[in-house]
Amino acid sequence: MIKVFTTRKDFDHYRSTLTTQAIGLVPTMGNLHKGHISLIEKAAEENDVTIVTIFVNPKQFGPNEDFDKYPRTLDEDLARISAIALLINAKKDLVVFAPRSEEIIYPKGYSTMISVGPMTQKFEGSVRPTHFDGVTTVVYQLISITKAHTAYFGQKDVQQCLIIKKMIKDLEIPINIYIMPIVRNSEGLALSSRNQYLSDSERVEAMVLPHTLQKVEKLIRTKQDYKTFVVETLKADNKWDYLEVLDSSNFETTTDLTTELVIVAAYRAGATRLLDNILVPMNLGK
Ligand code: PAF
Repeated sequence: MIKVFTTRKDFDHYRSTLTTQAIGLVPTMGNLHKGHISLIEKAAEENDVTIVTIFVNPKQFGPNEDFDKYPRTLDEDLARISAIALLINAKKDLVVFAPRSEEIIYPKGYSTMISVGPMTQKFEGSVRPTHFDGVTTVVYQLISITKAHTAYFGQKDVQQCLIIKKMIKDLEIPINIYIMPIVRNSEGLALSSRNQYLSDSERVEAMVLPHTLQKVEKLIRTKQDYKTFVVETLKADNKWDYLEVLDSSNFETTTDLTTELVIVAAYRAGATRLLDNILVPMNLGK
């Protein structure tokens, strides 16, 4: 059975009962899909207590973004988490913290924002300038409230992962960060809560994104000229916000010291922006 808390008082009381247990945190905005489920399962495997937070964080949405229409499906989410609870060791706790109001995370008068700096303004940040400050601010709050030992994130939002890791390092927050691989549908499209905005024809169009990334990966792995292919691809279709090959450790241009590349892209299918990426180790064939 899962435990569900919607107020700070109840959650804090529960948290105060935990003493020596290993605590895992899976921060989510709900509308759980198999990508989230993989994070929850991993956390439940590795920890005595797994806390899944469900909070659609207003601070990470820009003024013209989809905050109001972002899918809120708490009942279905709780059913999915309950199904996981049946499969894990009965001695372990699977807990949901779903604050029933914004004030539970940002009490009246709250004004602090956490900003990691220049890396929040590139790629996703160039299109969504306040987004990452909203993400780091809520993740900081969720870590403070839950006092978890390990937090789990999905690699689909690879820039988010990098920025959160930088915040953890700079602020010396005592928590481990674990990144889980991207989960894809049977056709290869990375799972995302925003996929449900796609019409049938946009769903077909969206496949350009994983197919292009696979093509770039193949060119890199076979040591062919991927740079020209990237330039030509961007020129041929204005639905790309970006398509780049970067050093995965810092989102900068690759150097001789780069040990892993990330092929990273954002593509617009209709009004929906879709993100995807592939990690490629650099020691190929060495
Ligand atoms: O990746 C997400 O769903 C969100 O950005 C997160 C990390 C839960 C913060 O609201």
